[in-house]
Amino acid sequence: MKEQLAKIRAEALAAFEAAQDSAALDALRVQYLGKKGELTAVLKMMGKLSPEERPAMGQLANEVRAALESALEQQGRKLEAQALTARLQAEAVDVTVPGKKVSIGHQHPMYIALDEIKDIFIGMGFDVLDGPEIELASYNFDRLNAEEGHPSRDWSDTFYFDEDSRVMLRSQTSPMQVRAMETRELPIRIIAPGRVYRKDEVDATHSPMFHQVEGMVIDKGVTMADLKGTLNTVVEQLYGKGTKTRFRPHHFPFTEPSCEMDVQCHKCGGVGCPTCKGEGWIELLGAGMIHPKVLEMSGIDPNVYSGWAFGVGLERTAMRRFKIADLRLIFENDMRFLEQF
Ligand code: DAH
Repeated sequence: MKEQLAKIRAEALAAFEAAQDSAALDALRVQYLGKKGELTAVLKMMGKLSPEERPAMGQLANEVRAALESALEQQGRKLEAQALTARLQAEAVDVTVPGKKVSIGHQHPMYIALDEIKDIFIGMGFDVLDGPEIELASYNFDRLNAEEGHPSRDWSDTFYFDEDSRVMLRSQTSPMQVRAMETRELPIRIIAPGRVYRKDEVDATHSPMFHQVEGMVIDKGVTMADLKGTLNTVVEQLYGKGTKTRFRPHHFPFTEPSCEMDVQCHKCGGVGCPTCKGEGWIELLGAGMIHPKVLEMSGIDPNVYSGWAFGVGLERTAMRRFKIADLRLIFENDMRFLEQF
């Protein structure tokens, strides 16, 4: 039995040392020290020894077991350390490799211009509203006093969804006036930016989709002087102090009186040049005093309340703000263009 124990000890220690990973080591643990293991088998035979032999043999067996256990533990730690080192090497990050460039985008020039406009109006106490691009013709036309037969309702100008011309892509942001009157308490001071759609061919100044900003004020005692004062202030903030404007009479179905507002040409200072087509002035927006019928249709008494409204094209405003010559540049998303802002 003594030889048997010595043999097990020698074999086991050699096997442990040769184990390549912890799974192999574990299998060896079972092979030698498990319930059906080799050492266990020898220990079970202890009972057959004579009482004189038993203590010495018992001690030896315990020594062997202790030796195996400690060798197992040592080898286990060694393998663990090896595995860790291997993993660290495999997963090492080379901090000297050049990184990937993260390119961060920025706002589109038109939205930069829109934010400037929003800031100005918010500073004057206006709220900013959002509304649907798929709109009812009753909001886009009827309740803005553009009756059946009005040229802007024509199929050649407007994208309708149905044969009866009731649902459409809004052709202006003006229906937001009606929506604001419907949902807001008086007095009302709002702007409503957004996309609008018309059947226009694409060229340097036209696109079937473009953006407008609608503005509206309704309160007691509001006059044309408020309209002029407010819009002049906005233009000075957008284009610089002392920027000259002029108001020309015009016609819109939803305002009376109606006007268009021009800004003095920034290129020639009013003398006349190609930019302003020799006029000295550039048309900026449409505006006017809200027609009493429009107020009435939305349940507001025109004898008590009055208001003004305007609509401005956002692309054109941005083009002037950033001196962009061609409208198409705004929509093409050419990075060489966009990166300039
Ligand atoms: N909706 C008009 C257009 O698209 C612009 C406009 C003119 C809006 C006068 C207004 C306004 O609110 O009062 O041409």
